[in-house]
Amino acid sequence: MKDKILAKFKALFGEGAQVYASAGRINLIGEHTDYNGGYVFPGAINFGIMAAIRPNGTDKVNVFSLDFDEKVQFGLQEEDKPEQQWARYVFGVCREVLKRDGKVEGFDAVFSGDVPAGAGLSSSAALESTFAFAINDLFNNNKIDKFELARIGQSTEHNYCGVKCGIMDQFASIFGKHGALMRLNCKTGEYKYFPFHPDGYRVVLIDSCVKHELASSAYNKRRESCEKAAAAIRKNHPEVEFLSDAKRLWLDEVREEISQEDFLRAEYVIGEVQRVLDVCDALERDDYETVGEMMYQTHFGLSRLYEVSCEELDFLNKLARKMDVTGSRVMGGGFGGCTINLVKNELYDVFVDTAVKEFTQKFGHAPKVYNVVISDGARKL
Ligand code: GLA
Repeated sequence: MKDKILAKFKALFGEGAQVYASAGRINLIGEHTDYNGGYVFPGAINFGIMAAIRPNGTDKVNVFSLDFDEKVQFGLQEEDKPEQQWARYVFGVCREVLKRDGKVEGFDAVFSGDVPAGAGLSSSAALESTFAFAINDLFNNNKIDKFELARIGQSTEHNYCGVKCGIMDQFASIFGKHGALMRLNCKTGEYKYFPFHPDGYRVVLIDSCVKHELASSAYNKRRESCEKAAAAIRKNHPEVEFLSDAKRLWLDEVREEISQEDFLRAEYVIGEVQRVLDVCDALERDDYETVGEMMYQTHFGLSRLYEVSCEELDFLNKLARKMDVTGSRVMGGGFGGCTINLVKNELYDVFVDTAVKEFTQKFGHAPKVYNVVISDGARKL
């Protein structure tokens, strides 16, 4: 990918570019907990975005997307976002750095990526992180701290892309480390690396290739439900800043005050926060059976209580259970995308073959299979 990007850069803008990269992510457990101040447990993966960039001495940014075969130019003083969705991520990152009194000067860039879009692997966070990291390196002597770089990506989603996301994806693609998952406390920002080498198991993603149009508005609606539930609980327990601070019992106290829908959403989140801790404990004992069981519980919650699964993902999950796969669940924001599966080595081939065959028979299109390696996040090459 690097050679292709540099060749295009040379053709469009000449020599002298620096190359930066960042990664998509998986999340072993801890879904929809980030914006609730809970724990997440992601890792960066070997699918990412790579960009060649060079300052151009003007106040204009020229970005070429190899994958869309399209160039966009915008001025750094402009307030109006570009029409192209992909360019909004780059535009948003520039604006967010400037808002924080960081420095951004004009630059030329060519980028490409191999994170499948819409699969729930955070291709957008990979793009934001690549440019945030590069701008920090090229114009700010790396003075913006890494957490702020992640927040710059998150604010880009909020302010230019209409998704009120949490911090997980951008955190993972900035902080990712080869061979390690990261448990992040989204309320305090504390995090810990956990080496992840599940001996005897493989992690495989099965992509339903389903994408739901209204995913971002449905996502924002989930977030509102959680905020309403937290506000109701806070009346009795002022210490509850985020929903993740609430005890299950405290949710029961407000059952009559909130809608049934908000109740179910909150019930899922409170359970999920605890599951992340349980999975980390289990990993320290190499107890993959417990890890897997928690993944199934998460799927149940995401499907029935949080309602972000879909028929195709429920089908994949049910099949995994039937075939004695250790753990399986819908991953990421939901409304389509992938299941993440923890599979014993000896079961891997038959599980993947059966899943592809039965899914294709039922839905008329083949799912995609991704073998992921936990990899480094944002970096200069
Ligand atoms: C999307 C968001 C994240 C997180 C997940 C669900 O990936 O960008 O912030 O909320 O969904 O866990």
